[in-house]
Amino acid sequence: MSINRRDWLRASLLSGLSMAAAPAAFCEPEQEMPLGYKAPQGPLKARLSANENPYGPSPKVLKTITEAAPDGYLYAMEHARKFRKLVADTEGVPEEYILLGAGSGELLTAASLWAAYRPNAGRTIVAPDPTFDQLPRAAIKHGVNIDRVPLVAADGYDINLNKLNERVNAQTGMVYLCNPNNPTAIIVDPSKLRAFCESVGAKTPILVDEAYIDYTPDPKAYSMVDMVKKGSNVIITKTFSKVHGFAGLRTGYMIAKPELLEQISKFATGGGCISMTTLRAAMVSLQDKEFINYSLGKAKESKDFLLGVLKQTNYEPLPSGANFVMFPIRMKGEDFVTRMMDQGVSIRQWKFDGQYWCRVSLGTMDQMKAFADALKVIS
Ligand SMILES: Cc1ncc(COP(=O)(O)O)c(C=O)c1O
Repeated sequence: MSINRRDWLRASLLSGLSMAAAPAAFCEPEQEMPLGYKAPQGPLKARLSANENPYGPSPKVLKTITEAAPDGYLYAMEHARKFRKLVADTEGVPEEYILLGAGSGELLTAASLWAAYRPNAGRTIVAPDPTFDQLPRAAIKHGVNIDRVPLVAADGYDINLNKLNERVNAQTGMVYLCNPNNPTAIIVDPSKLRAFCESVGAKTPILVDEAYIDYTPDPKAYSMVDMVKKGSNVIITKTFSKVHGFAGLRTGYMIAKPELLEQISKFATGGGCISMTTLRAAMVSLQDKEFINYSLGKAKESKDFLLGVLKQTNYEPLPSGANFVMFPIRMKGEDFVTRMMDQGVSIRQWKFDGQYWCRVSLGTMDQMKAFADALKVIS
């Protein structure tokens, strides 16, 4: 994309209509705060705690939302049908392979309920630890046991598929993993994951959460959609919350063979909870390749800058295939979060493998600079 084009996009984002699309700059500090942490001393400079896309939604999407708003009194049945068809065509699967949700989170929760109440199935979910916790957390509330397989330094904190496979037994009702994983951002090798889906799928369904797949070097090649097409026992979730910048607009979808989707859809709304503005906006965003490439380019610029900063300050990040980076820190995680927050920067912390870690999302360059300044102050 040329400089002019980039400037135009930036100007559009910052002008009148687009002001609504700059949540990071205008949000209240209280909204960012993990429970229990004290308020920052000054205004929030950078919200780098939720892996959002600070450039989205695209200018074309914002225009569509404005045009759609007056029709807000109408139910959106036909838009949901059209959107499902467009998603199916984009993924190269028949429509019956797609289940829509108000964010992929709704579908992860539906899958957890399915795991809890499916007849004649085990009540244990095998999952790496740490991973995105929405599905495990929802499943636990309904009596499902989570068999967690720790990520360890010996594997470079990669998801060890052999270890996951060894844990699958008669009690297993599902395997859940994210590719790339959250919070580590590490990509699972797609050929190894395909082999895993082939062999483990014969024993139990595997849910592959592809929330960050757009950030991998080749999203089509890294996605397991081809396994679904081959009839494997694989369920995929994707979201518009990341590269499309729809985290607050809420939509996502699940891809699986119809016999699985039919069962899981009993626990979901089937797209009935997605607003008409979001449906119309998502159809535009799905085809707005220029904006997607722009967002990916900006994320890469921010990542390169961040990796440089971490190197200068002697932090050793894990390899990132997503829009966030994880690195081990040299103080207690809670203290790190509080001290960064005092500098006006929100990030998240984890503890695993006996070590505290920071996960920082890729924001705008100004936000990354605010992160860098804050890190220097507290390090
Ligand atoms: C791995 C992963 N899956 C799913 C989600 C949920 O996304 P949403 O409900 O916004 O589609 C997230 C959100 O951060 C995530 O990190």
